[in-house]
Amino acid sequence: MHTASLDLPKLYDQAADFMPLLGTDYLEFYVSNSKQAAHYYKSVMGFQSLAYSGLQTGNRDYESYVVVQDKIKLVLTSPLRSGTDVGRHIDQHGDGVKVTALWVEDATKAYEEAIKRGAKHYMSPTKEEDENGYVVRSGIYTYGEVVHIFVERNEYKGIFLPGFQKWETAYNPDPVGLKFVDHMVGNVELGAMNKWVEYYEKVLGFAQILSFDDNDISTEYSALMSKVMSNGNGRIKFPINEPAEGKKKSQVDEYLEFYEGPGVQHIAVATDNIIDTVTKLKERGMEFLQVPGSYYDALEERVGKIDEDIEALRPLGVLVDRDDEGYLLQIFTKTVQARPTMFFEIIQRKGAQSFGKGNFKALFEALEREQELRGNL
Ligand code: FE2
Repeated sequence: MHTASLDLPKLYDQAADFMPLLGTDYLEFYVSNSKQAAHYYKSVMGFQSLAYSGLQTGNRDYESYVVVQDKIKLVLTSPLRSGTDVGRHIDQHGDGVKVTALWVEDATKAYEEAIKRGAKHYMSPTKEEDENGYVVRSGIYTYGEVVHIFVERNEYKGIFLPGFQKWETAYNPDPVGLKFVDHMVGNVELGAMNKWVEYYEKVLGFAQILSFDDNDISTEYSALMSKVMSNGNGRIKFPINEPAEGKKKSQVDEYLEFYEGPGVQHIAVATDNIIDTVTKLKERGMEFLQVPGSYYDALEERVGKIDEDIEALRPLGVLVDRDDEGYLLQIFTKTVQARPTMFFEIIQRKGAQSFGKGNFKALFEALEREQELRGNL
């Protein structure tokens, strides 16, 4: 199946969902320098200071800065000494996403349901409390070393989680209009995609809403396959990629080589004004993949009339695609850490619920030009 329209359940019955997920709670990155990473996310991407855990809060092992923009919370964690599991993780993978935290009503039940269905244990249900109330968290592994932590926070009024204090700072750059996590994509090894599709179906009750094969996603040289998994209410979407045979090394292979295993490839964040958001991000130093100008010459013919002026999209490099339900605008950053692994997508949906299949060819050719410059094609 490779269709442009989505197979979303028409009616969502939360009572019948054994794993009701309310949204993405936070994403935790293990990074080699949390203080500098926090500065980058504030200065370049417009995140705001929220919370801190480290020596000043009595945490002698790790330092974490939490930044926020609308519904998106990022936790940036570094070890404060040698010999930690975080340090070992960074040594193997470089900077990357360790935790995708999912907001739930009942973290104990979510954990028990997942474990009963075959999830691999990461963290037993744990109650954490301070003067602002309590939070219950639990966790399971997904692909590679990535984990999902279930967060139950109905009884908590504090700034982030127990153990964190408010991070006050005089440096507060403006937001750039990022609203929420639209989807988060994982790269897994050749032949492993279907195993993880089944995992999300069985353990978390997700459904496959879309798939792409190597006929959809191939350039002259490299290819990949992808299946998009969604939870019942559609708030959480996890596409899973695996490399496909090509004449040269696939972008997924390059990721797997440099991340030294499966992991999060990109995080798509939504805006309701992509022209304004990308203009600000560029002014602040974010680098984006660029498609050739010929892409815009053929654009109206491919996607029809859109609200935006195509001449305003061209200098920014914003891409457009259409499906049965509407259209979307999207753009991809270059990778954002030393290793050529993770990057961001900025997306604005105008009806379309798909992922930009019409842009894959132009985009992957742009990716391959970057790979070639790195000597990895
Ligand atoms: Fe995406």
